[in-house]
Amino acid sequence: MKRSVIIAAALAAMAALPAAAQTYPTKPITMIVPFAAGGPTDIVARIVAEPMSRTLGQQIVIENVAGAGGTTGITRGAGAAADGYTIMMGHMGTHGAAPALYPNLKYNPARDFAPVGLAAGTPIVIVASKGHPANNLQEFIAWAKKQGDKSNHAHAGVGSVSHSTGILLNSIMDTKPTFIPYTGTGPALNDLVSGQVDYMTDQIVNVVGQITAGSIKAFAIATPQRSPALPNLPTTREAGLNNYEVSAWNAIFAPKAVSDDVVKRLNDALVKALDDPNARKRLDDLGGVIPEGADRTPAALQKLVESEVARWTPVLKEAMANAK
Ligand code: MLT
Repeated sequence: MKRSVIIAAALAAMAALPAAAQTYPTKPITMIVPFAAGGPTDIVARIVAEPMSRTLGQQIVIENVAGAGGTTGITRGAGAAADGYTIMMGHMGTHGAAPALYPNLKYNPARDFAPVGLAAGTPIVIVASKGHPANNLQEFIAWAKKQGDKSNHAHAGVGSVSHSTGILLNSIMDTKPTFIPYTGTGPALNDLVSGQVDYMTDQIVNVVGQITAGSIKAFAIATPQRSPALPNLPTTREAGLNNYEVSAWNAIFAPKAVSDDVVKRLNDALVKALDDPNARKRLDDLGGVIPEGADRTPAALQKLVESEVARWTPVLKEAMANAK
C-alpha cells in the first residue's frame, strides 16, 4: 500500500477519536495509593508510575490516602471525576478481600471501576522481628500457639493484604494474637525492625531488603516455588505448612465511567512500563512477579477481581469466625 495512503488512513483514524482522547493527558495525573508511603503498594506504584509518566508525557503524581485497610483511598478514587486524571493502585486487599470484611463497603470492586491493568504479583512472606526466639516456621508456629494473645501481629488495617493473609495464617495455626494496625506495612515494618511487634505477613517487595540485611527474620514464602529474590527462603510447603499458599497483586484502576480511549492510553503506558528494563529489574530484585502477555489486559484484571472476591469471601468469613 502506498505510503501516502497509509498516512491518510492514520490521520483519518486519529480524526475519528474524541477530542479529549486525542490530547489526553494534557495535565498531571493523580495516582491514589491507599496506604502510607514506603509500603509495598507505594513501592509498586512508584516503580511503574515513572516510565508511565514518560510514555504519557505528563507526570503521574502519587497521593497517599491511607485508612481502613486501603478502602478509604479507593472509595475516594471510585468517586473521582471520570476524566482519567485520577487513577488508583489497588490490590488483592482493596479489590479482593475487602467485601468480606466490610459489610458496608462503599464500592463494589467488580462493578465500580474501569480496570486498567495488573502491575505486579507480590508473593506473601511470613516475617518476624530479628530477636524472635523461633529459627524456623515450625518453631514459630509452636511459639505462636504458646503466646495466646501476648504476641503482637502487625498489619495495614482491616481488609489489607497483610491483615487478610494474617488472619488466614492465624486461623490455620489456631492462634489469636493481638493485632496492631498501621496505615501501611511501611510503618509496620519499622516497628518490626525495632522489635515493637513480633510478626506479620507481608508482600515480598516490602521486606526483601530487610530480610537480606538481616534486620528481620523470614520463616517461609507462601508460594508453590521459592522466589529468585530470596532463594534460601523455604516455601510454606517445604517448611511443613501445607495449606497456606497465598499471593497478592497490585493493579491500576480508574473510576468506572472513564472512556475506553483513556483506559487504552493508560493500559498502553502500563504495558510499556512493564517492558521498561529498569522497572523490570527493580520489580525482579524485590521479588515482584511481572505480568506478561494476556495477563496485562483490562479484561484479565476484571476477571482476576471477580475471581479473587469469590475466593477470599468464604475463606475470610471462616477465618474471622475462628478468630472469635
Ligand atoms: C497491605 O498490607 O495491604 C499493604 O501491604 C499495605 C501497604 O501497601 O502498605
